[in-house]
Amino acid sequence: MSPVDDGLVSNPTTNPRFSDVLDAALARRTVLVGGVAAAAATFLGGASVAHAGAPGRRRELLGFTGIPVSSADAVVVPEGYTAKVLISWGDPISDGPAFLPDAGNSAEDQARQWGMHNDAVWFFPLTEGGKAYNGRGRVRRGLLVQNHEYTDDVLLFTDGTADWDAEKTAKSQAAHGVSVIELRLRDGAWTVERPSPFARRVTASTPIEIAGPAAGDPLLQTSADKTGTTVLGTINNCAFGHTPWNTYLACEENFNGYFNKTGEPTELEDRYGIGEAGYLWYTTDTRFSADEEPNEPHRFGWVTEIDPFDPDSTPVKRTALGRIKHEGSWVVETTRGRVVVYSGDDQTNEYIYRYVSDRPWKEALRRKEHPLDHGVLYAGRFNEDGTGEWLALTHDDPALQAAGFTSQADVLIRARQAADVLGATKMDRPEWIDVDTETGFVYCTLTNNSGRGVEDGPPVDAANPRPANVYGHIIRWQYRDDYDEPTFRWEIFALAGDPGDPADGSTIVGDKYGSPDGIYVSPQGRLWIQTDVSSSTVNAGAYEGFGNNQMLAADPDTRETRRFLVGPNGCEVTGVVVTPDERTMFVGIQHPGEAPEGELDPANPGQFSTWPDGGTSRPRSSTVVVTKDDGGEIGS
Ligand code: FEO
Ligand code: CA
Ligand code: CA
Repeated sequence: MSPVDDGLVSNPTTNPRFSDVLDAALARRTVLVGGVAAAAATFLGGASVAHAGAPGRRRELLGFTGIPVSSADAVVVPEGYTAKVLISWGDPISDGPAFLPDAGNSAEDQARQWGMHNDAVWFFPLTEGGKAYNGRGRVRRGLLVQNHEYTDDVLLFTDGTADWDAEKTAKSQAAHGVSVIELRLRDGAWTVERPSPFARRVTASTPIEIAGPAAGDPLLQTSADKTGTTVLGTINNCAFGHTPWNTYLACEENFNGYFNKTGEPTELEDRYGIGEAGYLWYTTDTRFSADEEPNEPHRFGWVTEIDPFDPDSTPVKRTALGRIKHEGSWVVETTRGRVVVYSGDDQTNEYIYRYVSDRPWKEALRRKEHPLDHGVLYAGRFNEDGTGEWLALTHDDPALQAAGFTSQADVLIRARQAADVLGATKMDRPEWIDVDTETGFVYCTLTNNSGRGVEDGPPVDAANPRPANVYGHIIRWQYRDDYDEPTFRWEIFALAGDPGDPADGSTIVGDKYGSPDGIYVSPQGRLWIQTDVSSSTVNAGAYEGFGNNQMLAADPDTRETRRFLVGPNGCEVTGVVVTPDERTMFVGIQHPGEAPEGELDPANPGQFSTWPDGGTSRPRSSTVVVTKDDGGEIGS
């Protein structure tokens, strides 16, 4: 995660308003009632459903020996597995310039190189002819698309942030955004194809179209764009989504940290955390001064759709998905072909959102009504009895009209405030979401919330049952028949912490972890969990003995959880995808060597980690390729 917003709270409401304060004991009982078999029986009821699967998989999912925690400055994987670096910050994406180890590359170089601090990643298989894979034959070619969430500007430059100028702003902007690279399977190993006609960087200065109900709204108009329909760049792209029509969704998370406001923030600015900037861009680029361009911040916090198969295509911000600190946008299809898109708003005490397209996506595309421009956005309410409901954020709702919302554009631009009015449930920092299409369970990580149930924080509730929730938890929900139903049933999949220490209150079945962030259901149904313990607390305090950030595999039916990978010092493990045969896995290692507190000394960039290059080198965010030595499925 970006350090800009760690721990920020800007939700002033008293939501949830649905219940009295629950005592922790009742909440805890609710959590433990049921379990998977009971849940499956209750939710699916044996009915013939679109995504129905019997409880229990076709076969055993976890075949590897779990590894111990690690504090080594290395990527550690189980015996019988190999992890190799595929690409690192500064490497050319095609036939561009090579990385200079003293970080001496220019802004122009950086715009042709892999960006900094890679996050979510997806693999789009290609046919031998370079088209989207049609499901036939072995995959030997593909596009890897990955976000670059943020930059550490001390590491980005030889002399850190000293003497900040327009060139430094430009390089920092060029290190943000998204990369598309082409991979080929050669001699059994996936490697980067250079040059490639598909290779592309989308950065904080790439022209992007604004579409959907909020496009053109006066709040989106600036001195450079009087129409409110075009914007430069996408930033703080944390997690992601991918669509059935083969596009990539880059989501804008902590965008507020790039804008500087010196005066008193407006109510809207305050609700989205606009204030003192964490970056220095505004000092040379007036776009990022909210004093000079008050509407520019409203053009961020959206989901940007990118067609990775066409490097000349213009990315599009899809405003119907709402303006929040989008962790990601995970897409699942209903039986009739509508798309349902889930987003977590990653900030303490914020909400989970769901979007449902008006029409089946194929019909919508035929009619030239984009399925992500025409639909309804909802915010989630998690009731204490294990039921939940989706609250529609539509302008015709009398409560929203009474609260002063003037149009659907207004509702979407101020989505957080609309969700406040309708009484959505404040969650313990929603991060990734993914869907197990075999059982219909939707999983969401809630990374932590040390302010829950203490001081001015919201009270515990059944869905966020622990006061001072330092370890976080994973919640899951399920529908009766299909993903677009207005109500659902939920349960806690795991309360994180050390299951060997009763004081932690962990319900993990297996290896300990905390601060779950990435979550991914592989095609065969393995549930991969990645952690983001902040650098200031990793392996210290409540996290003493947890080692470096890590990735685990869980069986979603038995809940058995085993540690599969541990990252190098100071890193976050974020971003994971497998190839369709599940024999190759790509894993993101972000911000190795981040200073535990304060800033690095630019003269000593390898102070906390020298991964992956070793020696006295500057640490570099990288994506690694994991394979099983016997060629089998990853995790088997
Ligand atoms: Fe960027 Fe929510 O982690
Ligand atoms: Ca995080
Ligand atoms: Ca994240």
